[in-house]
Amino acid sequence: MPSKQRILIAGGDGFIGWPLALALSDAGCEVLIADNLMRRDLVRSVNGDSLRPVAPPAERIAAWKRVRKDGGRIRYEVIDIGQASAEVSEVLKSFRPDTIVHLATIPSAPFSMKDRATGEQAIRNNTLCTWSLLNALVETGIDAPLVHIGTMGVYGYEVEDYDLPEGYLQVEIATDGGGRRPKEILHPMKPGSLYHLTKAYDQLTFEFYNRQYGVRVTDLHQGIVWGIGTPLTALDPTLCTRFDYDSDFGTVLNRFAVQAANGIALTVYGSGRQRRALIHLRDSISCLLLAIRNPPRRDDGVRIFNQFAEVVSVNDIARTVSEVQGSSSSSIANPRIEREDNMLRAENDGLKRLGWKPSLLSSERVAEIVEEARHFQRNLNPEVIKPMSFWRRRS
Ligand SMILES: NC(=O)c1ccc[n+]([C@@H]2O[C@H](COP(=O)([O-])OP(=O)(O)OC[C@H]3O[C@@H](n4cnc5c(N)ncnc54)[C@H](O)[C@@H]3O)[C@@H](O)[C@H]2O)c1
Repeated sequence: MPSKQRILIAGGDGFIGWPLALALSDAGCEVLIADNLMRRDLVRSVNGDSLRPVAPPAERIAAWKRVRKDGGRIRYEVIDIGQASAEVSEVLKSFRPDTIVHLATIPSAPFSMKDRATGEQAIRNNTLCTWSLLNALVETGIDAPLVHIGTMGVYGYEVEDYDLPEGYLQVEIATDGGGRRPKEILHPMKPGSLYHLTKAYDQLTFEFYNRQYGVRVTDLHQGIVWGIGTPLTALDPTLCTRFDYDSDFGTVLNRFAVQAANGIALTVYGSGRQRRALIHLRDSISCLLLAIRNPPRRDDGVRIFNQFAEVVSVNDIARTVSEVQGSSSSSIANPRIEREDNMLRAENDGLKRLGWKPSLLSSERVAEIVEEARHFQRNLNPEVIKPMSFWRRRS
């Protein structure tokens, strides 16, 4: 990582954004977090909260400065990136980032499918955040690459007999003269929730801004993140990142770990045969650092990497957590509309070529999460683990 880089993290107060801010600062970068802190409020709006209390941004940054002694350069600005597009341009003009990392999203599929209001909020927020950052780059003329985390969910969860490529598909099109012309196109998108739909829209928005204005974009199609920390967040309790376990915002493995720690049967949706891509939080940060360190060239088009370490089924995840804690699991009615017997196969070579060495699901790492969940048992609200959002079927 070239030290002295100035990195703007849109959504830097979040689960992934905060550990990334620490990692970049640790590497000598100057970090500006731009965040409206909405994740904190959204989780509370569904009666949840991070199991482990999360300090306000100013306290986190003060703790980092204490730990680092040399002052670790992180600042934050509270700004709604989707709503305040003129201010976003002003922030860019004054900070002049070398790279922008875009994590500012309402990242929950269930929340986006809860009701009309939450669906509208997710669509507006997510699409406008993406547009606002790209618009600011064009408006200010700042030539900073943008790194975004998208989702493996854009491909849809079908039964395929080929490995999903990293974003693009090579096809042949029949031409007028009876010939065949090879063409590279975005892999068809089959989002399974409004949240995933906004990520599909992001892909087209990136393609548009890259083609029309030459904005360099890396889109990381990420799997589900598990884990609750990195070596840097563990340096001081105030540096911890969020540990959400509610059914709207907590990711599946972390949620199972909280159930296991509290003697609650792990709630597997439906058959549990849904196969999903998984990545540990530490690896997510490593991949982001690699993407920042290795920007695409302008004529590369939008660069897409599949960012996951392994593909496992929900039953595999439940089994691993059960083995650590001896918990039982029970199948409950699936609140989502999804295939329960998909066959996810995908390439993930791009980030490995840049030097990433994926770490896989392990009982040691899962045991750390269960242990932390036990430590903060007093903060548990078991009601929010039960499904709170339902994909409504047309009757
Ligand atoms: N966590 C996962 O398992 C996972 C998996 C795949 C993809 N992703 C993607 O990674 C990114 C980061 O995810 P996360 O888990 O850290 O989510 P998060 O909700 O913890 O972080 C997102 C941050 O963006 C902020 N934000 C949202 N809208 C904003 C706005 N209008 N203005 C300013 N700030 C805004 C939120 O306050 C929050 O701090 C998201 O784009 C998400 O879709 C996450």
